[in-house]
Amino acid sequence: MKRIRILNLLRSDKPIDNVTTMGWIRTRRDSKGFSFLEINDGSSLKNLQVVADSSLVNYEEITRLSTGSAVSVTGSLIESPGKGQTWELKADSLEILGLAPDTFPLQKKRHTDEFLRTIAHLRPRTNKYGAVFRMRSELSFAIHKFFKDRDFQYIHTPVLTASDCEGAGELFKVTTLDLDNIPKKDGKTDFSLDFFGAATNLTVSGQLSAEMFALALGDVYTFGPTFRAENSNTSRHVAEFWMVEPEMAFSDLNDAMDLSEEFLKYLTGYVIDECGADLELFAKYVNKNLMTTLDSLISSGFTRLSYKEAVEILSKSGQNFEFEVAFGKDLQSEHERFLTERYFQHPVIIYDYPKNIKPFYMRINDDNKTVAAMDVLVPNIGEIIGGSQREERLDILEARMDETGLSKKDYWWYIESRRYGSVYHSGFGLGFERFLMFLTGVTNIRDVIPFPRSPNSISF
Ligand code: 4AD
Ligand code: MG
Repeated sequence: MKRIRILNLLRSDKPIDNVTTMGWIRTRRDSKGFSFLEINDGSSLKNLQVVADSSLVNYEEITRLSTGSAVSVTGSLIESPGKGQTWELKADSLEILGLAPDTFPLQKKRHTDEFLRTIAHLRPRTNKYGAVFRMRSELSFAIHKFFKDRDFQYIHTPVLTASDCEGAGELFKVTTLDLDNIPKKDGKTDFSLDFFGAATNLTVSGQLSAEMFALALGDVYTFGPTFRAENSNTSRHVAEFWMVEPEMAFSDLNDAMDLSEEFLKYLTGYVIDECGADLELFAKYVNKNLMTTLDSLISSGFTRLSYKEAVEILSKSGQNFEFEVAFGKDLQSEHERFLTERYFQHPVIIYDYPKNIKPFYMRINDDNKTVAAMDVLVPNIGEIIGGSQREERLDILEARMDETGLSKKDYWWYIESRRYGSVYHSGFGLGFERFLMFLTGVTNIRDVIPFPRSPNSISF
């Protein structure tokens, strides 16, 4: 049957006769001769009030309906005489599609995020998680729109790969070998007998593939799932997350920094314009300072400073950090958050990191100590974007691969891109979930992804 979504009914500018809508009951209350049902179909945060009166043939049954039950209602959309809503649906008939007994775990009281994680299959039916996942959808669309408006091509980079882009070895292996009877050669697993005839894993980043396409189509981006077997059980890491990775030919580190700033500002503005009702919920119940933080991202210029300058500021800060700050050591989340939340109080971009803490593909600077890397840090999160100008010089790239122990044989195709018409190019990766955390104020990454994957957790 043709149904009209609740969102569209609530947006109506006139009464409508004989309209059908469907949804799940959030609450029901009865008064003499009437039953009032608040129903929600996920299209908006707001519920629709349905008024069922005792003339309905199944009225008795309706007065026993409990939270979570699914119904289809046909009737008239009329101006609501009651307070709290503009429209209500006066039911001419109400069909019960699916009953929910009172064991339904989402009763009216507020539940903790920890509890809701244990019922991740039902949590999108709550106000907060409905809002998170509508926002996730809007944000995905905005990402494509941003790039489309700027003539970037969308590339589908592979999920199955033989390479380790970041070189950190945090790979999930993919195999069809019999794990109880692994074929060996010289004491090691013989991957020549595996499905692809080579050791295979899930991708940690689409970048290397995206580079090949930037060096053909100019400006490109990938947006897809990436996988990291990092054993860090933090509120900012998951084993499966989505990354947006633009890659631009004929571009240097500054171009990448410019794009990252324009990108984050555009997306934040988009969400403020398009997700008003859902944002209001986050600003009211999740983070009271949310709108100030979002406005500040849009209005402030991102401070750009070198890694060396960042280390100096941190060393002189007088803060008692858990991890030591010293040139050559990676910045930890506590350092990043000090810089963006307390010292500058707006987003910052740190560039020119020591080469020993960064992957092989980043362009070596003239000092031969640092690389043309950049990280964007934002308040409440820390690192949200990592990017760089790529090493386009064949001899230097090869030397760097030797130095970092990467097989030139396995990456022959990547090396060839530097042999034939190599040009300077740059790009970055935005952690999609981390940015959603920033936009919603949600403090645990597991709560902005439909079914989170983390160490010892693969349910749903
Ligand atoms: O800094 P990363 O490792 O950069 C890359 O992968 C580059 N190849 C990107 C590029 O230049 N095309 O990761 C990029 C971002 C991080 O800044 C962070 O926001 C997010 O991905 N990220 C994670 N998000 C959730 N869970 C994890 N385990 C993450 N690891 C990285
Ligand atoms: Mg990084």
